[in-house]
Amino acid sequence: MSIPTPHIEVKELGVIADTVLMPGDPLRAKFIADTFLTDVVQFNSVRNMFGYTGYYKGKKVSVMGSGMGMASIGIYSYELFAFYGVENIIRIGTAGSYDENTHVYDVILAEDAWSESTYAKVQNGYTGDVIRANDELNKSILAASERTGIEVKVRRVHSSSVFYRQNFDEYKQTRDKHNCVCVEMESFALFHNANVLNKRAACVLTISDSLVSHVATSSEERQTAFTKMMELVLESI
Ligand code: HPA
Repeated sequence: MSIPTPHIEVKELGVIADTVLMPGDPLRAKFIADTFLTDVVQFNSVRNMFGYTGYYKGKKVSVMGSGMGMASIGIYSYELFAFYGVENIIRIGTAGSYDENTHVYDVILAEDAWSESTYAKVQNGYTGDVIRANDELNKSILAASERTGIEVKVRRVHSSSVFYRQNFDEYKQTRDKHNCVCVEMESFALFHNANVLNKRAACVLTISDSLVSHVATSSEERQTAFTKMMELVLESI
C-alpha cells in the first residue's frame, strides 16, 4: 500500500512527526494541539479522526485520535507506523479501576497489556496474551515523571474487547488471575502493531472511573487530570 492510506489523507512523508500521541477522542487531540503546541497544522479529518502536527518546546510532535477499541487503534496505528514512517506512538487514555488501591485520577503507565482479544492471533498468528510496552519509551516517561513530580504507577492493564459485559463481576477474575489493575480497550493491539513493525509504543492512562467503588469523575475534574497526563507525556518526548 502507499500513501494516502484509506483512513489518513496525508500525501507526503514528513507531515506527521516521528512521535504521535494518541488519545481515543479526536476532540481531545484538538485540545492538546490547541493547548500545548505551537505552529499547529491539521493533517487529517477523514471520518473526523483529527490529527495535528505542531511543536512542543521546539520539538516536532503529532497528536491524533485513535477511536475506541482495538479494531480502531489497530487501523490507525498500523497506517502511521507502516506507511507514514512514525517511530513512536504513545497512547494517552482513560481506564476503569479494577482494584481498591487504584484510585480515580491515578496515572498508570502500562508495563504490559493482557487481553482475551484475538487481535494478535488474527493479525499475524501471535498467540501470547500479554504484550509489553516499549522499555525505552517507558524509561523516558518515568524520567519525565521524576522531573515533573507527576506520579505514575507502572502496572499491567487489561485491554478488553467488550465494554458492556452481561457478567459485570467478571472483572474480578481478570484482576485476580491476570494481575490487571485497570481496564481500557486499545493497548494490546497498539503494542502488537509496534512489535510486528519494529516500532515503539507505550500507554499512559488516567483512571476515570472505578468498577470497585463505582466512583466516576466529572468532566471538569477529568479535564484537569488529563492535562497533567498530557504534560507528563509531552515532557517525555
Ligand atoms: N472499561 C473499558 N474501558 C474503559 C473503561 C471501562 O470501564 N473506563 C475507561 N475506559
